[in-house]
Amino acid sequence: MILAIESSCDDSSVAVMDERSFELKFYEKISQEADHAKYGGVVPELAARLHTEALPRILQRAKPYFSELSAVAATNTPGLSVSLIGGVNMAKALALALNLPLIGVNHLIGHVYSLFLGSEARFPMGVLLVSGGHTMVLDIGAAGGIEILATTGDDSFGESFDKVAKMLGLGYPGGALIEELAKDGEPRFELPVPLKGDRRLEYSFSGLKNAVRVQIEKLKEAGELDERAMRDLARCFEDAACAHILDKLQRIFELRRFARFGVVGGASANLHLRGLLTDLCERAGCEILFAPMKFCSDNAAMIARAAIEKLRKKEFTAPAELEIIPHLNLRSAFE
Ligand code: KG4
Ligand code: ZN
Repeated sequence: MILAIESSCDDSSVAVMDERSFELKFYEKISQEADHAKYGGVVPELAARLHTEALPRILQRAKPYFSELSAVAATNTPGLSVSLIGGVNMAKALALALNLPLIGVNHLIGHVYSLFLGSEARFPMGVLLVSGGHTMVLDIGAAGGIEILATTGDDSFGESFDKVAKMLGLGYPGGALIEELAKDGEPRFELPVPLKGDRRLEYSFSGLKNAVRVQIEKLKEAGELDERAMRDLARCFEDAACAHILDKLQRIFELRRFARFGVVGGASANLHLRGLLTDLCERAGCEILFAPMKFCSDNAAMIARAAIEKLRKKEFTAPAELEIIPHLNLRSAFE
């Protein structure tokens, strides 16, 4: 079995997975969302302190599996450095104490493996990764080579939901709150679909976020920012953000043929987005794969699953050498 730790942002999570059957033997996640909610976003120092409290508590409960482990893994990139360090140091200590090999896992590759939690991975495939930190379209080759087809020049998809939720005073994280509010909204505000008509394969959410800000200010000035207006605005924002994802993907689908397309990351829980993507893939004759709802957001199960691939190839790192890399370097992730 393999034990994996995820602590790249604001979730402390530990998983123990059977390396042959992929059965999840132990899984726990302590989310810090409520602690960060009053600040409207993740406060790094607070996240670091909460990881230091939560991880030993979860590991204590995973202790019955320690004697059956063949490796220890942790997310070491990308993420908040003060958060990553909590999980990585804990994994180093465990590897040294139990005399086990240590594996560093790229968080984004972890999200990709959330599609294969209980099965062998099958590539090639296209992947849309939509989370709080990233928005990208990847082409993953049969041998695992990775090409980034589109990424965001500013905010990520999930982050734009968080920021709009903050502007509307809804709390953090904003994705599910906006989605819930948007359900009964009317599409009565005109918001721009970013980079519409622009042939660049790039995402951008800052202009849309500003358009929402301007609309909120107008409504406030007119004394019309009531519950209905908030619902309608949430609906229009969600429509525009999802239309932007779809618009660029449509173009990518014209340029490339995918037999399979996976959608991962915390924001892939959005049902409106799921519906649009399902239609797109149906039209393109391409099989669509989603991660289970429970494992869309950050979790250690996907890290354990990704680590099993490295365990098979014996891609270990000595505890003294496993570095924390906060920034993204996806090109080397599959190599
Ligand atoms: O993957 P994740 O848990 O963390 C990162 O690696 O960033 O993604 C969290 C992000 C947050 O920005 C959250 O607001 C967004 O995913 N999110 C959603 C939904 N549920 C979570 N965004 C849109 N609609 C949702 N239903
Ligand atoms: Zn994530």
